[in-house]
Amino acid sequence: MAYTHIPAMLAEVIQWLEPEPGNIFVDGTVGGCGHAAAICNAIEPDGTYIGLDQDRDAIDNAKRALERFKTTVHLFHGNFVQMPDFLSQLNIPATDGILLDLGISLHHVASSGRGFSFRKDEPLDMRMDIRSDVKAWDLVNGLDETNLRQIFQRYGEERRARQIARRIVQARKRNAISSSRQLADIVSQAVPKASWKPGFHPATRVFMSLRIAVNKELERLEQFLDTAVDFLEPGGRICVLSFHSLEDRIVKHRFRMLENPCTCPSDLPVCACGRQGTLRVLTRKAQRPTAEEVMVNPMARSTKLRAAEKLWQ
Ligand SMILES: C[S@@+](CC[C@H](N)C(=O)[O-])C[C@H]1O[C@@H](n2cnc3c(N)ncnc32)[C@H](O)[C@@H]1O
Repeated sequence: MAYTHIPAMLAEVIQWLEPEPGNIFVDGTVGGCGHAAAICNAIEPDGTYIGLDQDRDAIDNAKRALERFKTTVHLFHGNFVQMPDFLSQLNIPATDGILLDLGISLHHVASSGRGFSFRKDEPLDMRMDIRSDVKAWDLVNGLDETNLRQIFQRYGEERRARQIARRIVQARKRNAISSSRQLADIVSQAVPKASWKPGFHPATRVFMSLRIAVNKELERLEQFLDTAVDFLEPGGRICVLSFHSLEDRIVKHRFRMLENPCTCPSDLPVCACGRQGTLRVLTRKAQRPTAEEVMVNPMARSTKLRAAEKLWQ
C-alpha cells in the first residue's frame, strides 16, 4: 500500500534541529518519512535515527523508505509515550534531537480505509493504532448525548455540538451508525444549510474531534512532554509541529514551564524555591508555514512549530 505524506515545514524543522553527522535523533511520528529522510541524510554516515509510529503501516513503509541511508535506523511500532522504553532497549540514555509532527498523515485520510475522511464510505474506526480498543464506532454508537456534545465542543470547538449530538442519538435508535459517509450525512442534516461555509464540510470538526478522542491525542502529548526533555543531551533540541490550537497550547505551556519552573510569588525580589529551568525556548511565538508552502501543501496550513533547546546544567 502506497504511504504518502508531504512533510510540513521541512526546511524550518531541519534549521531548528540542526542534525549533524554522527548525531542520535528520535522521530516520534515517522509517518511517510518526509522528515525522517532529511534527518537520516543529515546524520549520515554514523548517525542513529530512532523512528516511532503507532501505525503499523508507517513502520512497514519506513523499513523500505529508509533503507537507502547509511545511518543506523531503529524502528518501533508504538506510541511516542513509550520513547523511554524504546531508548532503554537500545541502551541510549539521551539524544541530540527529538521531533514530533502530530496528527494524521495523508495516508490515513487517503488510503487507510479507517474512516478518517467524511468524503469516503468506510467503517467508522479512526484508530491510528489498530491494536487499541476503542474505535470511533464505539463513541458514536455508545456515548450518551452529553458526552458526544462535550467531545465536539472540547476538541472540535463545534458551535452546533448540541444539535449534532442530538441528531446522532436519534439516528442510531433505528440502526447503528457504521460508516463515515453515514455519519457525515447525519451531521450535515443537523447543520442548517444557510450556515455551511464554502469549501468547509459541515462534518469537518466532528470528524477531527472524534479522531482526537479515539487516539487520546492530547493526553498522549502531555504525557510525552512530561519526560521528553530528560532524554535530550545538553544542547539537544526538541521540535514539535502541531495542527490544533489545543495541542499548540499544551506545547507552549510545557516549554514555558520547563524554561521557568520557579513558583515564587512575582513580587519576591529573588527566587526562593530554587527550581531551575532545563530548557531554552527558541521560538517565542509559534512559527507558521510560508504562503508558498501552503499553496503547494494545503494540509500544512494550520501548522504551528515550536522549538526549544536543553540547557547545559
Ligand atoms: C503528520 S504524520 C507525520 C508525518 C511525517 N513527519 C512525514 O514527514 O512524513 C503523523 C504520524 O504520527 C503518528 N502518530 C500520531 N500520534 C502518535 C503517537 N502518539 N505515537 C506514535 N505515533 C503517532 C501517526 O500515525 C502518523 O503516522
